[in-house]
Amino acid sequence: MCGIIGIVGREPVAGHLVDALKRLEYRGYDSAGVATLEAETGLTRRRAEGKLRNLEIKLAAAPLSGLIGIGHTRWATHGAPTEANAHPHATSRVAVVHNGIIENFRELRAELEAKGQHFASETDTEVVAQLVDWYLQQGETPATAVATTLKRLTGAFALAFLFTDHDDLVIDARRGSPLAVGWGDGEMYLGSDAIALAPFTDRVAYLEEGDWVEITRTGATVHDETDAVVERPIVTVSATAFQVDRGNYRHFMAKEIHEQPEVIGHTLARYLDLSASTVRLPPALPFDWAKLDRLSIVACGTAYYAGLVGKYWFERYARLPVEIDVASEFRYREPPLPKNGLALFVSQSGETADTLASLRFCKAQGQHTAAIVNVTTSTIARESDVIFPTLAGPEIGVASTKAFTCQLSVLASLAIAAGRARGVLSAEDEKRLVGALGELPGLVLRALRVEPKIERLARETAKVADVLYLGRGSSYPIALEGALKLKEISYIHAEGYAAGELKHGPIALIDEVMPVVVIAPHDPLFEKTVSNMQEVAARGGRIVLVTDEKGAGAASVATLETIVMPDMPDLLAPIVYALPVQMLAYHTAVFMGTDVDQPRNLAKSVTVE
Ligand code: F6R
Repeated sequence: MCGIIGIVGREPVAGHLVDALKRLEYRGYDSAGVATLEAETGLTRRRAEGKLRNLEIKLAAAPLSGLIGIGHTRWATHGAPTEANAHPHATSRVAVVHNGIIENFRELRAELEAKGQHFASETDTEVVAQLVDWYLQQGETPATAVATTLKRLTGAFALAFLFTDHDDLVIDARRGSPLAVGWGDGEMYLGSDAIALAPFTDRVAYLEEGDWVEITRTGATVHDETDAVVERPIVTVSATAFQVDRGNYRHFMAKEIHEQPEVIGHTLARYLDLSASTVRLPPALPFDWAKLDRLSIVACGTAYYAGLVGKYWFERYARLPVEIDVASEFRYREPPLPKNGLALFVSQSGETADTLASLRFCKAQGQHTAAIVNVTTSTIARESDVIFPTLAGPEIGVASTKAFTCQLSVLASLAIAAGRARGVLSAEDEKRLVGALGELPGLVLRALRVEPKIERLARETAKVADVLYLGRGSSYPIALEGALKLKEISYIHAEGYAAGELKHGPIALIDEVMPVVVIAPHDPLFEKTVSNMQEVAARGGRIVLVTDEKGAGAASVATLETIVMPDMPDLLAPIVYALPVQMLAYHTAVFMGTDVDQPRNLAKSVTVE
C-alpha cells in the first residue's frame, strides 16, 4: 500500500505532487507528505497527519517552490499515523518515500544507531534514509549509495529518493511493489501507477522486479538488480485507463455500482461471440482444459468471493475439481499441487502481495498459471502465463463493486469454455449459457431499479449493530460478500453464513433486532433456504429476503422487506444478486455518514502481506 510520486520538473512541483497524490489516495490515506529542493532552505518537507486536505492546508500556509520533489500518501504499517511517522523521511542529505515493508529494519536500525545515526520516527522506512545517508557520508555518490543500500534491504518495496545539492536527480527502485516512470516534455515523473501520472504524461515505462532508476529532466537510466544498465519499453497508456472522475455521483462507489451494466457488457464482449453463441478465449492457451486434474483458485477479500462462486461454476459446468483458498493461507501452507494443475489468481489491482506470492509459489511448483486482473499492467498480470482481463475500468472506491461482477463475468465464461473442452457441456448447452450471459447487462440494469427500496431499508439498517447474511450454493459467496461490503464501509458488524450452517451456531444470535439478509433466488436450493428462514422467523428474527417473483410468492415467511430481482437463469444469479447487497452497504454507510470511498484503516491496493 501507500502511494509514491516524484517529479523532476521545470516549474514548482509541490502542487503537482499533491494532485498526483490525490489520484493515489486509494492506496492509503493515513498521512501524506512532500519534500522538495528549495533555493533557500535546501531539502524541505511538509507533512500532515490524516487525509491530503490537511497537507494542502499546510502547503497553503507555508508554500514550497522547488522544481524537483517527491511525495507520499501513507497506509500505516510500522508506527502510528502521526506527522512524525509521515513520509518523506529525511536526513540532511537525503529524503525518501516508501511503499512496502523493510523486513530487516530492526537489525539495520540497531547497526546505524551504533554508528551514531539519529532516528526521528518509528517507521521501517527511516532506516533506508539513514542507510543511504551513511553511505553518502562515506563518500559514495547518490547512485552508488542507493545501489549499496538496496542490497542490504529485505522485504518488498518501491522507493524514491531526493538528494541535497542534486537538483536534477531523483532515484527510484522497486522490489515487490509497482513503479512506473513517465516521460514528459523536459520533465520526468515516477509514480506507484500510471494513473498518478495521467495529468502529466501518457508515456510510461513499468519497472521490472529489482530495477532501480536514475531520473533527470532529460530521461531515465534504468539498472537491473545486478546494477547493469537495461532498457524498459516506453508504452502509451490508453486515455480510458485514466478516467477517474466521479461524474455526477456523490461517491466513486455509487458511480462504480451504476457502471456495472456497461462494464459487464464490455467484459463479456471480450469473452463471448454472441452471434455464434460461443465463448471466445485467446486461441493459444498455454494449457488444455480437458487435461487439467485440478484448478486452484487463489485470491483475497472480494476477489476471493468471486473465486468461490467460480468454484461452484467450474465444478458444476466443467466437472473440474477446484480447490480455493485465501492467498495469505495458501502461500504458507505450501499445498501439494497436482502435475496437471492450473492455478488461477483473481485480483482487481494485480498487486496484492499475498496473491502475488501465491502465484510465484505455483509457478515454482510447475503449475500453469492464469490471472483474472483488472489492471493489465500489474505485476500479477505480467508474471502469469496468461491473463483474462476484466474491463471494469479504474475502480477507485476502496470497496470493490464493479471489479467483482466483472470477475464473475469472466469466471462464468471460463467455466463454460472449460465445460465444453471437457465434454461436459454440449454445443447446445454452451449456446444456452452464452445466450444467458448475453442478457446479463440488461438484468444488472434492472437490478439497479430496486435502489429506492434499498435506500429506505438502509435507513433502518444504519440503526443496528449486527447483520447476518445467509445464502446457499452460489448465493453463499454473495452472502459473504454482502457482509464484507457492509462492515468495511459502514463499520456495522456483519457475518455471512451458508444458510445450512445456521443451526450449527449462528442461530443463537437471532433476536428481534438483528436483520437477517437472505439471498435466495428461486433455484433448486430455494426450498432448503426457506426452511432456514422459517427457523429464523420462528425465533422472532427480522428477515430481509432478496429473491425473484417466484421466490417472493413461494417464500411463505413473513419478512421485514422483500427485494425482488428479475427472473434469470441460475448461472446469472450470483452476479445480479451482488447489486442489492452492494447498494444496501452503500446507502447504509451514507446514512451513517462514514467516508464511503475511503473507509477507515483500509487501502485499495494491499501490497503488504
Ligand atoms: C473489498 C475489497 C478487498 C479486495 C482485496 C483484494 O471490497 O476490495 O477485499 O478485494 O483486497 O484486492 P485485489 O482484488 O486488488 O487483489
